[in-house]
Amino acid sequence: MGTAALSATAPASDDLRNAGGKSPAEVREMFARVARRYDFLNHLLSLGLDFRWRRIAAREVAGLGASDAVADLCTGTGDLAFAIKRAAPAVKVLALDFTPEMVAYGPKKAQRARLEGVAFGVGDTLRLPLRDGACAASSVGFGIRNVGDLERGLREMARVVRPGGKVLVLEFTKPRGFFFGPLYMCYLKYILPIVAGCIAWVAGDAYRYLPKSIQAFAGPDEMAERMRAIGLKDVRAVPLTFGTVHLYVGVK
Ligand SMILES: C[S@@+](CC[C@H](N)C(=O)[O-])C[C@H]1O[C@@H](n2cnc3c(N)ncnc32)[C@H](O)[C@@H]1O
Repeated sequence: MGTAALSATAPASDDLRNAGGKSPAEVREMFARVARRYDFLNHLLSLGLDFRWRRIAAREVAGLGASDAVADLCTGTGDLAFAIKRAAPAVKVLALDFTPEMVAYGPKKAQRARLEGVAFGVGDTLRLPLRDGACAASSVGFGIRNVGDLERGLREMARVVRPGGKVLVLEFTKPRGFFFGPLYMCYLKYILPIVAGCIAWVAGDAYRYLPKSIQAFAGPDEMAERMRAIGLKDVRAVPLTFGTVHLYVGVK
């Protein structure tokens, strides 16, 4: 993987709309606004469970070595990229996101955590600046829901992975069940935006968008089917924390 891998790409067309109804420009603007508070709110509102979800996802690539690269896309401030680096210390991790304000936190966090071998860059998941099969795996944590074209995003993730490599997607899902499902949606719709709004008023819109986009986004059966439809094999949808999150794994 050369330095070209880190060059910025032109953002995807603003005619696109993601599951929450936002265009790529609106998504970038929203994450630019919450970037400063993103990690704090993330850990608080998930009650710290987000660390565990990312660790479980990262275990999927624990066997990779020094000749392997993993592309973590929609990396935000880099937490999944760091979990991958911890699970597979020799691997090279390329962490890309199209919001410069989010990705700017990555190198500072890596330095604080004394983690080397994670390269951050600005890049759009819909047009990755990577050649076909450049990576041993690609991953995205809580990002694919925000991408303007799910199928194109999954195809890009698969394109940059070599045959036999894994595509990993970690994403929120609406839990099933008569009791827990509505209770959880109530937390997402009413409690979470208020808590987030009190801590950072600029985050209010982002945390109203969160439940809306989760409700509108593909459930586990549809996501697994979408991954199979683009040619991935051995697709698994692993429920985490009562099905509020799923880890999807597919093999190219
Ligand atoms: C909810 S954050 C997830 C960050 C991180 N992966 C995590 O686990 O916390 C979603 C991120 O996806 C990014 N994003 C959304 N659409 C994107 C796209 N088309 N290309 C690259 N990044 C994108 C946003 O900028 C944002 O940083």
